[in-house]
Amino acid sequence: MVSGLGEQLVIVSNRGPVTFSRTESGEREYSRGAGGLVTALNAVSRRQEGAVWIASAMSEEDAAVSRENVPYEVEDLRVTFVEHDPDAYSLMYNHIANPLLWFVQHGLYDLPYSPGLGDDTRRAWEEGYVTVNRNFAEATAGAIAGAESPVILLHDYQLYMVPRFLRERLVSDAFISLFVHIPWPEPDYWRVLPRYIREGVLESLLETSIVAFHTRRYARNFIETATAFLGAEGDAERGIIRHEDREIWVKAYPISIDPGEFKELASDEAVEAEEEALRNLPGQLVVRVDRMDLSKNTVRGFEAYGRMLERHPEMREQVTFLARVQPSREDVREYARYAEVVQETVDRVNKDHGTDAWKPIELAMEDNFPRSIAAYKNYDVLLVNAVRDGMNLVAKEAAVVNDRGGVLVLSENAGAYEELGEHALTVNPFDLDEQAEAIYRALTMPAGERARKARALKQAVEANTIEHWVQAQIRDIASYREGGGEKQSAAPDAL
Ligand code: F6P
Repeated sequence: MVSGLGEQLVIVSNRGPVTFSRTESGEREYSRGAGGLVTALNAVSRRQEGAVWIASAMSEEDAAVSRENVPYEVEDLRVTFVEHDPDAYSLMYNHIANPLLWFVQHGLYDLPYSPGLGDDTRRAWEEGYVTVNRNFAEATAGAIAGAESPVILLHDYQLYMVPRFLRERLVSDAFISLFVHIPWPEPDYWRVLPRYIREGVLESLLETSIVAFHTRRYARNFIETATAFLGAEGDAERGIIRHEDREIWVKAYPISIDPGEFKELASDEAVEAEEEALRNLPGQLVVRVDRMDLSKNTVRGFEAYGRMLERHPEMREQVTFLARVQPSREDVREYARYAEVVQETVDRVNKDHGTDAWKPIELAMEDNFPRSIAAYKNYDVLLVNAVRDGMNLVAKEAAVVNDRGGVLVLSENAGAYEELGEHALTVNPFDLDEQAEAIYRALTMPAGERARKARALKQAVEANTIEHWVQAQIRDIASYREGGGEKQSAAPDAL
């Protein structure tokens, strides 16, 4: 057993590390999730023999696995699926988590017009979000039954109410933390939410021992929010909240990647084959790789690129923008509409600036990991211009495998800005002209300066890997428990 992780370690996240299906001949098979969060949590799960990972059943076969009532062992993981009523899950996922919470936390609402909340919101909250969170709490309580000092690591905004439902059930000394992987905005943004959601979420989060974020800014915002709405006593300097005789640590652990894993992937045959196709694209390469999400600011990115071509006509036919955008949350109305606007914008820029021999933007709406890695390796400019982003692992993944001395154009509002900002060209994601100029500057930067920046970027990623992320959390879990969450001396580093 690894010190600090208790007798039983349970990881809980909405999307799990694997999804099962049946082959045509009726055999059970699975595919592993490739997202950054799943990869990071794999690194935690591997630390502890017998660790269980609880996630929502996403397929028929996941549901069948969940009915077998024992953790399913696959490779080095033990997975338990929670089967939700489909209507409850849809209310949670398509109406509360994405868009409502996601939109508030990423600042995506056009407030004079939306959201329009009402009785439907309350129904989606009670019958959807709360129901799904209760299901998760029940499954988690089952997984730790009988264990002494269990450690429960909850992940993300789909699970905000789980701490409260767990505390209602648990008499044991379970350690509970919740890691928020998306931004936590300033208190006033939270006023968009009805009080029963706003206060419900905050009360629940203060039932944990540690609330974690990717940046110090989000951690500070959280302390201020709890102070403003619940009257909790917050110490932003030391990262502590006191509430109803409990002490909650509020910490920043910037998530990262395993650089070795990405370097290995980069020399994979499938990736090298994809690189061949990239060689046919004319000129230098501007690349973006994201989920299709309003928070990623895809439309403004294309608009800015269009402006760059308008101002610098000499760049025509000298550059191609390769955008790899993975379909996401297509049942959420706002996402479906955004995908249309993305396509319309690409068509317009291509029509306005393209020539017979050249398409300024190549847009691929697909999920193809080897192709994305091939794009990472070959970018001259990587555009990460998010409206807001919890961290943005693309910036880190791409930096370690790129071998063209590529320049990162980075939004001031991406979590990665705290670590990588000084080695990037940083931009206000709302300023089209600034982004257009940054793209131009990156494309025309002298070779020596490009190489220096690319090297420094790589070093910054390698200085804080996923291993550091895991270790820092394990250390804090141990010291929180040693101090019983009470002792000042065991308090975390200042924010
Ligand atoms: O980090 C944000 C997050 O919602 C994760 O929880 C999730 O794994 C990822 O983005 C993808 O989102 P979704 O699970 O909705 O496809």
